[in-house]
Parts: sequence; structure tokens; C-alpha cells
Amino acid sequence: MVCGIFAPMKTPKRYLITSALPYANGPKHIGHLAGAYLPADIYVRYLRAQKRDVAFVCGSDEHGAAITIQAIKEKTTPKAIVDKYHALLESNMKDLGISFDIYHRTSSPLHHETAQEFFTLLYNQGALDLKESEQYFDEAANTFLADRYITGTCPICSSDKAYGDQCEKCGTSLSPEQLINPKSTLSGNPPSKKKTTHWYLPLDKHEDFLRQWILEEHQNDWKTNVLGQCKSWIDAGLQPRAVTRDLEWGVKVPLENAEGKVLYVWFDAPIGYISATKQWAADNQKDWKPYWYDNDTKLVHFIGKDNIVFHCIIFPAMLKLHGNILPDNVPSNEFMNLEGDKMSTSRGWSIEMDEYINDFVKKDNGGDMMVDALRYYLTAIAPETKDSEFTWKGFQDALNSELVAIFGNFINRSFVLMHKLCNGKVPPIHSELLDEKDKKLIIDIQTSKETIQSLIENYKYRDALFEVIDLARKGNKYMQEKEPWIAAKQTDENGVPTKEAQQKIDATMHCCLQLSANLAILINPFLPFTAKKMCHMMKVVDKMLEWENAGKMNLLSVGYSLRAPELLFRKIEDAEVQEQIEKLKIKSKKMTEAMPQNENQQKTEKDVVVKPEIQFDDFAKIDLKTGTIVAAQKVEKADKLLQLQVDLGTEQRTIVSGIALHHQPENIIGQKVVVVTNLAPRKMRGIESNGMILMAEDENGKLVFVNSEVSNGSNVS
Ligand code: 2FM
Ligand code: ZN
Repeated sequence: MVCGIFAPMKTPKRYLITSALPYANGPKHIGHLAGAYLPADIYVRYLRAQKRDVAFVCGSDEHGAAITIQAIKEKTTPKAIVDKYHALLESNMKDLGISFDIYHRTSSPLHHETAQEFFTLLYNQGALDLKESEQYFDEAANTFLADRYITGTCPICSSDKAYGDQCEKCGTSLSPEQLINPKSTLSGNPPSKKKTTHWYLPLDKHEDFLRQWILEEHQNDWKTNVLGQCKSWIDAGLQPRAVTRDLEWGVKVPLENAEGKVLYVWFDAPIGYISATKQWAADNQKDWKPYWYDNDTKLVHFIGKDNIVFHCIIFPAMLKLHGNILPDNVPSNEFMNLEGDKMSTSRGWSIEMDEYINDFVKKDNGGDMMVDALRYYLTAIAPETKDSEFTWKGFQDALNSELVAIFGNFINRSFVLMHKLCNGKVPPIHSELLDEKDKKLIIDIQTSKETIQSLIENYKYRDALFEVIDLARKGNKYMQEKEPWIAAKQTDENGVPTKEAQQKIDATMHCCLQLSANLAILINPFLPFTAKKMCHMMKVVDKMLEWENAGKMNLLSVGYSLRAPELLFRKIEDAEVQEQIEKLKIKSKKMTEAMPQNENQQKTEKDVVVKPEIQFDDFAKIDLKTGTIVAAQKVEKADKLLQLQVDLGTEQRTIVSGIALHHQPENIIGQKVVVVTNLAPRKMRGIESNGMILMAEDENGKLVFVNSEVSNGSNVS
């Protein structure tokens, strides 16, 4: 159990909670749900149960090349694309219980005005610099190639599908100039360069502030993965970022002589949080301003790890210049993989939210209970500190052996026994008759509430959910030990339990029912549909779910008659698991085959796994991190060894590596590497090595860095 490990925090006057605005360019998968939407929703539902003043805002990100490229693919207009996918995303989020107060759109006039006002204020302050530069240009298409219009090889991980703004494989933010072998996505030709002018946000001028604010002030409350990425960025030296683009689709730059220029999508998208707040406030007769200007507002951005730099570095620099409050936290998750591979909608290796809804929620045997089943598993395996893995078998196990067998079982038994042994009414309890087991259960409920509260407030939803299930587990144990069905056999001559026996039964069932009511409150942020159903069974209104009620043992009044138990969850059958795995394979095969040849990374014979198969759990034990070699020297009397200092973002490690025959120490400073960081320390030639760097062997047997020009999939040793 985790408790008392966090310092209590002062309660702010209001909360503004945001989830990353998804691009309205296609369906989104359950990895997205687990990354930025579900954790935010859990937090918000908890805050609402605490009766805090909270606004939960999100919306569709409807600008940028992600949209226009999809329009080209679907042979339609950007407007048609955003209309179609905005509607889909809004409805998917609703179906999955994501309780936004508003789901807005960045194509709305209010957003355009808000983003233009923001730009103008910065421009008028002289906070933006106008610069001329040479940018990639597609002669055939007669257009500049911003961001996603250009692809090439990632200089970090060698993926040959990196975009001009980001590599989706390793998550690194890039600029088009960093791509190796750049190509236009429009014509497929290598681009030329042409002069153009743009406005830049000089991030270099904000470096001191960002370093102090992130790495000093937030060093103890932001997640280490977030701090690590920020530190790498800041240490590498912040560069001015262009905040405008030569494009048609987007928010027009609100200046004269800016024909054909729009705001960069990453400039306007986060301002979408502000325009969404404005719209929500207008719809609800509220004042939006304190949510963005009053320091007693706690602003929290929930995002996936590929959005860290934008939310922790660029947007805060913009907010500060604009005079707004800064985020209190940016709890970013890592990625969720699927059945042994990275989730990818384009490769078909994904479970789209829409697919899940159609296959499970909209079916007769599903409904809301299957929404909560998904919410349960995604939270139980949330990639909070490292990448995690969704498997259909894992989903089945979590559902069948945790939700059904522990939580559902406790509630069901409590209600069945209450109907059988207590006439369907909440039985009385006499405090003088409470035994040690009853008293322990009462303390357990109180302690769990405090622990769960602390974990939720500290963005640790996985552990918090575990605590709820653990409390249900304690309920099962309590009932098993108290055995009310045995007391029921102590009957008088009429076959009715004796008075003493009935008192014992009543005490046990009273505690079980109060625990059931408590479990409804505690599970509510995670599984809201289940909590609602439990309220229906208990014939109580939703108000009972307020957080202050947790820990109480008088939630259900004595003598109150309760409904019969309802089915809270259903088991997943083996056949359903098989069906989903088959479906995934077929979908992925179809989509990969339909991809242009260079995007289609079909595995060849040589990629066939030659080592014995391992379970995911074996693999999950290995902690792999990227780092940079910052120092290297030969190890005395060891021809093959180099002693390296590797910067891992939050720490530096000494690692001894057998690569001296392949690389000169002076040539590898600054080299990016993948490091096994949890390998037990090992002494080599008297030097303690704390980890191992991963290398690949090329065709000639030379050990090369994994991110160099070896083809993807080379055996890593
Ligand atoms: O990565 C993405 O999907 C972006 N559309 C996220 C934007 S978050 C915010 F800035 F709006
Ligand atoms: Zn990459």
C-alpha cells in the first residue's frame, strides 16, 4: 500500500484541465485514449466529486498538414475532412465516457479570432522576429513544403518515414533541415530551396526562464520522463521557432503583407484551449478570464509524450509573453503498444476507438459495461512511467480475474446475500457487537480513501485503481472469513436463525453493504458507468458519489430496501480474444499492402526471429532509454573496451562498452545511443559499468550505432 508519501497541497480556487487536441484527420486509437483523455477524465471526475470548480476542455485540432494531406488522400477538401472527423471524434469520446465540458474546434471563428489576437499581442510587443530563410520548395507542385509535406530519414532513429516536424517512430521533434534524404510528399521529388520570410518566436531568449521554471521550480512535482525531455531540449540550446507557414489552410496571419501565410499549427492549436474555455464560459454564463489569468487557477495539460516540448517549452513561453498563467503540471504518458508492436493507424496495427465501440459497446452483450471494461484495462496498464502493452489476452485476464472475479464478485455476493439473509433490506448493526474483523474493515475503507485520493492528486491512476480493487479484495476476504451463510444455519425450531445468529449476519452484511457504497464512490472516477449502476442498485442518487462521503459507514440507511444485483461486468471468452487478434492481423496486412512501397516495411526472411520466443513480461523487465555519449576514453590494457559517460537526461552513467575496435573515442562524442539502464552493475578492468549500450552489426560485421545508417531491423546485440 502507498500512503502518506506526498505532501498535502493547497486547494486552488479553480482547475482548468486540458487534453491534447487530436487532429481531425482520422479515427484515433485506444493508445491515444490511454495517453491524454482517460487520465484527464479520471482526474476531472475526481475533482468534480470533490465539488471543485473545474473546466475540462478539449476539441479537434483542425489545421496543419495533417489535415490537408488527408484531404489529398481522400480527394476532398480540408473542410470536409475536419467536419467528418470532428464529428467522429466527438462522438467516440462521448461514447467512451470522456466527460469534456466542451469539445471545441480550431476551425471555429472564435478560435481564429483568439489565435489572431494572441499573435497580434506578441507581435505588438516586439516578441516575434521577422526573418528571411531558405525553405524547402516543391517545384512541380509550386509550393513551399512545411512540416508534414516533407519526409525523410530520421537522424535519431533512422526511421525512413520521419516528417519535417517530427519522427513518429521515436517521437523526436525535428526541423525539415534535419531530415536525411528529404522528399516532397506531394510529388515524391527531392525538394529545392527557396527564400521566404516568417515570424519567429526566439525561444533562445526565454531559455533562462524556462530552465529555472521547469528544471528548478518543477523538479520535484513533474514526472521524470517530462523533465528528462525538457532538460535535453534546453541543454541542447533553444532555437528560434518559426510560428508562421506558407499555406492556405489555417489561421491567417493578421498582418498586412502576409498574403498566403497562416499561423503554424503548433502556434494556434494550444491557443485552442483558450478559445474552448471562452466558448464553454459563454455557453454557461461564466467568466473565462480567471481560468487563464488568475494565479489561483491550477492549469494541467494531459498529453502524450510526443507533445511534451510543445506544452512544456513553446506554449509556456507564449503564455508568459501573453500574460497568462502557466501550467502547474503536464502529466505526459509514454506510448501504449499493441500485441508486440507500436500502435499505428496507418499500418492498421491499432484498435481504433470507433472499432472498439462498434465491436463491444454497441453490441447487445456489451454496452456501458464494456466501456468501463476498456477504461479499467487501459488504466491498469497505463504507460505512466514507461511504454506499456495492450494485449487482448491481458484484457481478458484483467476483466475476468480482476473486475469480474474481485470487484463484481464482491458486490454481487453482498447483494445476493442481503436479499437471502436480510430480507432485501440494509440490516442494523450494533456497535458494541463489532468484532476485530469488522473494525479492521472500517479502518481499511478509511485508509484506502486517503491513499486513493493522494494517488489521484499526484497523477498516479494506475496505483490508485489498484487500491480500489485491493479494497474489494479485502471485502471478499472479510466476507469469506465472517461466513454469514454459516451463521444462517444456526436456526430455532422454526428454521429461522436465532437472534444471536441474525445479529451476526446483520453486522456482516451491514459492513459489506456500506463497503459496496464506498466502492461505488471510489471507483466512480475510473468506471463511471459502473458507479451509476451501483447507485441504481442501492436506490441512491448520484449525489452519494461525492468524495466527502467516502470513508463513511452510514451511506445506506438501516431498513432501506435495495434492488436485486445487476450484472456489472461480463467475462470475455477465448473466442472473442481470438477473433480480435485475427481481425488485427487481417486489417494490418490489408493496410500495409495498400501502402506505397517505401512506406511498407514488410519483414523479410532475414528478420525472422532466431532467438527463442520470450513472454512480454520478460521483455518488460528491460529498461531501455536513449542517451547521448558525452565523454569517451580507451580502457587501459583492454583493446576492445571504451569507457563512456552517457547522458540519460536526468543522470549521467559510466558504461564500459566493447566497441573500441570499431570506433575511436573522439568520434563518438554527441552520439545518440539506446541504453539498457537496469542491467546489474558489472566491473570490467576495475571500472564499474552501469548499463549497456545497444549496437547493431552491419553486413561487414562492424558494430554500428543503432541510429546510424543500418537498415531497420538489423539484429541488435
Ligand atoms: O499531436 C497531436 O495530435 C496534436 N494535434 C496535439 C495538439 S495539442 C494542443 F496543442 F492543441
Ligand atoms: Zn526517429
